[in-house]
Amino acid sequence: MKLTNPLDMHLHFRDEAMLEFVAPFSAKEFKAGVIMPNLVPPLIELNALKAYKQRVLNACKQEDFTPLMTLFYKAYDKAFLQSLRNEIFAIKLYPAGITTNSVGGVSAFDIDELKPTLEAMSELEIPLLVHGETNDFVMDREASFAPIYEKLALHFPKLKIVMEHITTKVLCELVQSFDNLHATITLHHLLLTLDDVIGGKMQPHLFCKPIAKREEDKEALCKLAFSGFEKVMFGSDSAPHPQHEKECCGCAAGVFSAPVIISVLAELFTKHSNLNNLQKFISNNACKAYKLSFSKDKIITLEQKQWQVPSVYESKDKSLKIVPFMAGQILQYQAKLED
Ligand code: DOR
Ligand code: ZN
Repeated sequence: MKLTNPLDMHLHFRDEAMLEFVAPFSAKEFKAGVIMPNLVPPLIELNALKAYKQRVLNACKQEDFTPLMTLFYKAYDKAFLQSLRNEIFAIKLYPAGITTNSVGGVSAFDIDELKPTLEAMSELEIPLLVHGETNDFVMDREASFAPIYEKLALHFPKLKIVMEHITTKVLCELVQSFDNLHATITLHHLLLTLDDVIGGKMQPHLFCKPIAKREEDKEALCKLAFSGFEKVMFGSDSAPHPQHEKECCGCAAGVFSAPVIISVLAELFTKHSNLNNLQKFISNNACKAYKLSFSKDKIITLEQKQWQVPSVYESKDKSLKIVPFMAGQILQYQAKLED
């Protein structure tokens, strides 16, 4: 079994020692990844973005991996966007304060206020990636963002809008209703409901934003992903935090799934769908949506061979420990780069 050019359309690499530690997990198994800009400070400036891209490439070592860089959304003028058009893949919009390192995000979704930047993005064909949550009650935050998505889709029909890491049935339906709306789905949201996070003993390593929802939401996400539906792409939202920042009071949001993604998706799709649809979900759909092509293919083979996910990954100098998604569990497939 083989996958060609797996793409992770939503990925947190962080910076410095964390970047060095986590980048190889994705770079080994994926052909490219969309790298999130929520650093401290966020990426809002060309030189900082170029320097970060170079650090990302250095951290990926010799792997055949293309980082697709994103800029943190704020009001930008067209001349500025034009000057860095070739350096960025997309712009990521966060509502202010909604998740990790997002304080500088958007505080009001006023169309007139957003218009100059979004029109410029439309004209320059820069996609808008959105973390779609309001500050409503936590279980309703994503669904109550749906009218904002609709408003954006209607006012900017030529803008490619990606609803990131969707977690609800409502958004599974919305993505099918507007041509310019697309969506990414994570691995963990195909597997979890809120019950897994806080239904028994609290599981900090499953705590993320948006929070996992109800069974019917998970079922709708699975149905959409497993069908290979064209406008839905895989984006892991793999978001590493040091173990001590997860296992504490005030636990950081984020699931570190990078080491297990391909293996677990292979198991899920062989059980509930087929590898053809996995190929679409993990690569072809994104290639089509973004007109991406690669001069050299990266082929990942899936071998049916059990392995146990480590309970913790530790950096070489032992300064960083991260607990991965599915820590300690036995998985059925091993993903390897074809020689
Ligand atoms: O759980 C999350 N963690 N959700 C996000 O949107 C951001 C991410 C992070 O950067 O840690
Ligand atoms: Zn994210």
